[in-house]
Amino acid sequence: MKKNIKVVGVISSARFNGNTAALVREALKGAEEEGASVMEIFLPKYKLGFCTGCLTCTAKGKCPVLDDFEAIRKLIYEADGIILGSPTYAMEHNAIMKCFFERLGPYTMYASLLGGKYGAGISTSYGNSSKKVAKGLTGVFKLGIFQRSYVSGFLGVNTMVKGVERRVSESLADMNKAHDLGRKMTMDINSGNKYHFQNLIMRIIISISLKPIFKKSILRNKEGREHATYSSLHQRGLI
Ligand SMILES: Cc1cc2nc3c(=O)[nH]c(=O)nc-3n(C[C@H](O)[C@H](O)[C@H](O)COP(=O)(O)O)c2cc1C
Repeated sequence: MKKNIKVVGVISSARFNGNTAALVREALKGAEEEGASVMEIFLPKYKLGFCTGCLTCTAKGKCPVLDDFEAIRKLIYEADGIILGSPTYAMEHNAIMKCFFERLGPYTMYASLLGGKYGAGISTSYGNSSKKVAKGLTGVFKLGIFQRSYVSGFLGVNTMVKGVERRVSESLADMNKAHDLGRKMTMDINSGNKYHFQNLIMRIIISISLKPIFKKSILRNKEGREHATYSSLHQRGLI
């Protein structure tokens, strides 16, 4: 049984009381019910600039852009579970969520800093694309090169029924699904559920082909442009 479980909900909709936010908050309530301490990261509230592609993060472990991202990074790295919530815009997650992914940057991916964590995706849309988008959000938990993450689930909800828009908060069934997702994530963390077959083919490809290439490059550049990546992996015994 894990102590002091932390679950964060990352919301990228600009609508504070919108559909996505309602579902993520309900998932957090579910996590809390199972004993997690929870926190909401409402991205539009933060000053968040675009990634400039400088790759300073892999060398120094932090981003030189002067905004709120480092505070967000800390909350993400400290969490055991991360629930990502984005509205569906133009068939994808929205630009704020994309910006958040880019700002996590190659450092997070190369150093597998989401490794060992549990993730979930939530999206809402008018039509059917929310499921695809919600599943797509969990892709960020499938890229751990040196340490894998786990996906507890995803939830996509349509907000348009017979041409009439509805608020998800009025749908008990959808709110219950979100609640259950938060509970499931916390139970996964608590039991250390390893999801042995999850993402298996991709994991085999990563381990046979990508990991050796990344390892070589990180070791070659450990005093330079991959210094932070190397230090983090080395400290955690992963390289
Ligand atoms: C800019 C924009 C683009 C959208 N694109 C899509 C889309 O491609 N497919 C869809 O089904 N709904 C689309 N929608 C509808 C939203 O996904 C839907 O209203 C969602 O519930 C909004 O979430 P929110 O209340 O959390 O902001 C779009 C809405 C906006 C404002």
